[in-house]
Amino acid sequence: MKDEKQKIPVHVAVIMDGNGRWAQKRGWPRIRGHREGAESVRAVLRACKTAGVKYLTLYAFSTENWVRPKTEVAGLMTLLSKFLKEQARELHENQVRLRTIGHIHDLPKSLQKELQRVKDETAHYTSGTLILALSYGGRVELTDAMRRIAGRVKDGALEPEAITEETIRESLYAPDIPDPDYMIRTSGEMRISNFLLWQLAYAEFYITDVLWPDFREPEFMKALEEYSRRHRRFGNIK
Ligand code: FPP
Repeated sequence: MKDEKQKIPVHVAVIMDGNGRWAQKRGWPRIRGHREGAESVRAVLRACKTAGVKYLTLYAFSTENWVRPKTEVAGLMTLLSKFLKEQARELHENQVRLRTIGHIHDLPKSLQKELQRVKDETAHYTSGTLILALSYGGRVELTDAMRRIAGRVKDGALEPEAITEETIRESLYAPDIPDPDYMIRTSGEMRISNFLLWQLAYAEFYITDVLWPDFREPEFMKALEEYSRRHRRFGNIK
């Protein structure tokens, strides 16, 4: 149950790891793990509503994931399409808007269209925001930002001395979204894996051995309880 005094992160970012291992442990194809992982996405989205988490960013497909076997990539794309079709109604019901970050133009055309449709239809909602990181890489995002800034300098619209942290921030994919307060990673790996390199600068990290398909509402609530015990200092001493 949500404790009235519990400190709740505004923005939670998640590296959903361990789908493949979850399936392999059972002797099942990896895609079955991803399918169960999509169920965890639904569960965590609902838990965000219950707990009052306003922004949820999910690392659904990284720039590095393209090198996986063709069948797995295709399976993931199909799963994403299916998720969008099935989840759209719940996004409307809960007034949650969908956003994306990453090289969306790399995705199959039909998925791009579906994403655009759901994003457009939900753009006006303010109860919550689901951000899907798709064909996303933190270094590519920073490279894209540098290019944009260099272009403005070249055009004479910006002096190099006038570049501040804010200039970089506003050149990122979703500058209006507050930085994540909390980063959850499942399946025990102690890595950031090229996720939100700029935005995670001050985030608290929570790493659990639980594999993503097993990470449902009780695990998410446990993670939130841990967050409420953390003391964020932002470089200060208090
Ligand atoms: C990492 O597990 C997970 C992914 C690369 C894909 C995440 C996708 C989903 C959870 C399903 C679809 C997403 C949405 C938003 C509906 P892994 O395959 O690297 O696991 P492993 O490390 O055990 O091999």
